[in-house]
Formats: sequence, C-alpha cells, structure tokens
Amino acid sequence: MIAKKIEDALNAQINAETYSAYLYWSMSAALEGMNLPGFASWMRIQTQEEMGHAVKLYEHIVERGGTVTLTAIEGPQTAWKDVKAVMEATLAHEQKVSGLINDLMDLAIAEKDHAATMFLQWFVTEQVEEEATGMEILGKLEIAGNSQGGLYMLDKEMAQRILTPPKE
Ligand code: FEO
Repeated sequence: MIAKKIEDALNAQINAETYSAYLYWSMSAALEGMNLPGFASWMRIQTQEEMGHAVKLYEHIVERGGTVTLTAIEGPQTAWKDVKAVMEATLAHEQKVSGLINDLMDLAIAEKDHAATMFLQWFVTEQVEEEATGMEILGKLEIAGNSQGGLYMLDKEMAQRILTPPKE
C-alpha cells in the first residue's frame, strides 16, 4: 500500500506533468505562428513526453494500490515574444519541475517509502536530461543569433526529433 501523503504528492505531480504537456502544446501553437514548424514539431513531441511522465506516475499509484485523482489543469501562457523567449521559458519550467521532483524525493525518503524512492530516481535522471537539452537548444539559438539562415537551419534540425519510448 501507499501512504496517503505520498499518494497525494504523486497525484499533484500528475497534475504538474499534465500542465507541462499543456504548456508545451501551447508553445507549439505559438511556434507555428512564428513560422517555425520544426520547433513546433519538437515541442509537440515534448508534449507527448510529458503525458508519458504523467502516465508513469499514474501507473505507479495504481500498482501500489492507491487512488489516482485527476484535478483541473491551469491554462497555460499563450504568447511569447520569439523563439528564444519560448526556449528560455521551457528551461525555466524544467528547472521548476526539477524542484518539484526533488521535493517528492525528499518526501519519499522522509516517509521511508523505498518503492517510491526507487521509482522517482527515473525522474531525477530525466530532469538532468531535460535541463541539459534546454540549455543546448538555447546555446544553438545563441549561435544562430539574428541570422535568418541560421534559424532556418536550426528549425530543420529541430524537425528531426522523433518520439522515443521512455527509458526504463
Ligand atoms: Fe516531465 Fe519535462 O518534465
């Protein structure tokens, strides 16, 4: 069985991951409006990844005999100045999510919930990757600078991303 405190915290994280999906979907729409279909596609894959994270949490709660409780998802921001602003907001959001995961891990450790601690390790690793990716893309945007050609090439590169199933 799962302690109520952990169950509540994991349910809150399902909300946070689903909100992430919604935010990135909103960013994808904004990027379409900026004529950056590659970035928009990349962001839609990010949306699907976030839903995958929510499903992982869902499955863990169910496996532990807990109750999944879905709650209202906040409406995301809908407009950004440019692609750099979008990617800066993405990195800032991932840093916030890393904090949430760290808090969850602290709780699992304090509650001596070894199963949740093991489970959450995947998310700790994932967050390192998410933040690194955000920094890498911002670095590439920096190099492209104000060059339309550079941004065009980068958009083509972003279009290459495909959805990969989460690593176990
Ligand atoms: Fe589910 Fe991007 O963290």
